[in-house]
Amino acid sequence: MSERVIPLVDQRIRALRAVVPTTPVVPNGLLSDGLGRPLRDLRISVTDRCNFRCSYCMPKEIFDKDYQYLPHSALLTFEEITRLTRLFLAHGVHKIRLTGGEPLLRKNLEILIAQLAALRTVDGQPLDLTLTTNGSLLARKARALKAAGLNRVTVSLDGLDDCVFRRMNDVDFPVANVLEGIAAAQAAGLGPIKVNMVVKRGTNEHQILPMARHFRGSGIVLRFIEYMDVGATNGWRMDEVVPSAEVLRTLQAELPLVPLQASAPGETAERWGYAGPDGRHDPSLGEVGFISSVTQAFCGDCNRARLSTEGKVYLCLFASQGHDLRSLLREGAHDADIASAIGNIWQQRSDRYSELRAALPADAGIGPGRRIEMSYIGG
Ligand code: GTP
Ligand code: 5AD
Ligand code: SF4
Ligand code: SF4
Repeated sequence: MSERVIPLVDQRIRALRAVVPTTPVVPNGLLSDGLGRPLRDLRISVTDRCNFRCSYCMPKEIFDKDYQYLPHSALLTFEEITRLTRLFLAHGVHKIRLTGGEPLLRKNLEILIAQLAALRTVDGQPLDLTLTTNGSLLARKARALKAAGLNRVTVSLDGLDDCVFRRMNDVDFPVANVLEGIAAAQAAGLGPIKVNMVVKRGTNEHQILPMARHFRGSGIVLRFIEYMDVGATNGWRMDEVVPSAEVLRTLQAELPLVPLQASAPGETAERWGYAGPDGRHDPSLGEVGFISSVTQAFCGDCNRARLSTEGKVYLCLFASQGHDLRSLLREGAHDADIASAIGNIWQQRSDRYSELRAALPADAGIGPGRRIEMSYIGG
């Protein structure tokens, strides 16, 4: 049993006030941070609750019946989320990802999706509007999500073996229901669908090949994620990380792969395509991705901001403090001032945790105090 860090101070309370700078930062889509990185991707957490208890994210011992989730009044309303999203888009965001916790637990999420789908990027284009889900409610909701304007979904799935899957979600949820959800999403046209598999040594590395065989040629992109030291409650240990290079070797022994070009700057995943008999990528067999935050940091062009359920902006997945935008909203600030505050926050950004990881003490994050939990700011 690994030692767990029990939270003594609630990290969610720590927040920096979002400041409206005296010199306005006018949104023109050209914003860049202290390391020259643009702002392109906004991940919005719509609930801090989840019906799963994956040990690497919401371990049961911490997220038990006494755990204090945010009260409803603390959550941003759909109108507040839409307003902030419009201002982030003016600063150059192109991609919106709804996350949680489990985003499909948020009541009437379709209404928010419809509001967001009506927004446009700074160059007048529709957004890339996507959602990360554990798939448990997808069979029921896929059609309504598509009808509301959602473009695509990414489903978390850590194995095909029912026993392994039930153990990893730790609420005894059957894998068949998630596979049904994926099929419903595919039928509803919520593609290209991605499946995210966190690989943990001693737990599910024997699921790598079965997962690859299952999704090869299905039109679904399987991505292997290195188990990360995010948050402060999952008891992370380096020896439980399976490096992507090892996953690739395991795959190559049976299913030949060739490297593919990145499809967008700042992408999290390195792409590899399944090779046909001629040794070249066969698009009908599809591709896989490797997200290697531990062994190969990708902070250099990280263009992602995260908006927590209660309206704090986090500049890094490993941050310990957010910048409170909800106060500005609820104090009646004008759009121009809120946009200026967002611009100012991004301009001050220098976070690059994964690149610094090796040189930092074990529990350190960016800024003072413990790292925030992933269920609170979203993946
Ligand atoms: P696509 O546009 O669909 O390719 O999405 P994406 O790769 O940006 O997003 P997704 O939410 O699917 O990310 C996959 C996983 O990568 C997350 O669940 C995290 O585990 C990890 N991840 C995403 N963003 C970051 C990041 O900024 N830093 C680190 N260290 N890991 C990240
Ligand atoms: N390491 C890597 N990925 C994680 N996720 C959650 N916790 C971790 C972790 N410790 C991923 C899940 C899911 C997304 C919401 O975040 O796989 O795809
Ligand atoms: Fe829930 Fe996803 Fe976290 Fe698992 S990884 S506990 S499904 S939010
Ligand atoms: Fe971006 Fe922080 Fe992840 Fe690096 S560790 S890629 S800066 S979110």
